[in-house]
Amino acid sequence: MSEERKKTWDQKVDLVRNSYLRSKNNQNFAKLFYNHLFFLNPKLKDYFKNTDFNHQERALINGLDFLFDYFGKDENAKHQILRLAKVHNIDGLNIHPHFYYYWGEALVLAIKDSDPQYYSDMEYYLREVVSYPLSFFSSQYFVK
Ligand code: HEM
Repeated sequence: MSEERKKTWDQKVDLVRNSYLRSKNNQNFAKLFYNHLFFLNPKLKDYFKNTDFNHQERALINGLDFLFDYFGKDENAKHQILRLAKVHNIDGLNIHPHFYYYWGEALVLAIKDSDPQYYSDMEYYLREVVSYPLSFFSSQYFVK
């Protein structure tokens, strides 16, 4: 492993959060995210048959803001992520946990397209950091 990869968890979270903050300046960021998501798994389109994408693109950015604040001590972000995980669980939108893999990969690709300071190790940091909240989403799948 190169020296570059020897970072603490907090350093990786900061790197990835800053990369996301730069990326969302791209007006097409959310659009790119959904294009990648549906390319990676076209079946996921079925969940969005009645979705207004102008609204959903804003919802995604709000959700990502919560997701990146969830790593800190922000109680509201923790509350929102718990709420969103329940919205997506078996009794709600019923997003099976295996789908979160594609969500994480679509995020990597959208950030790759959008962050002007993107560099190759970022994708490893991204996967590593985002796997924690995505595991949390999965853990709530059966929770009432
Ligand atoms: C592959 C995984 C996922 C799928 C298929 C999915 C699908 C959906 C669908 C179908 C909706 C409802 C759209 C509508 O109103 O018509 C929704 C809402 C939403 N999703 Fe996801 N989702 C996924 C993962 C996530 C994750 C990990 C987040 C975390 C940020 C997230 C954030 C949101 C937000 C913020 C909303 C708006 C609902 C609200 O605020 O109550 N989604 N999602």
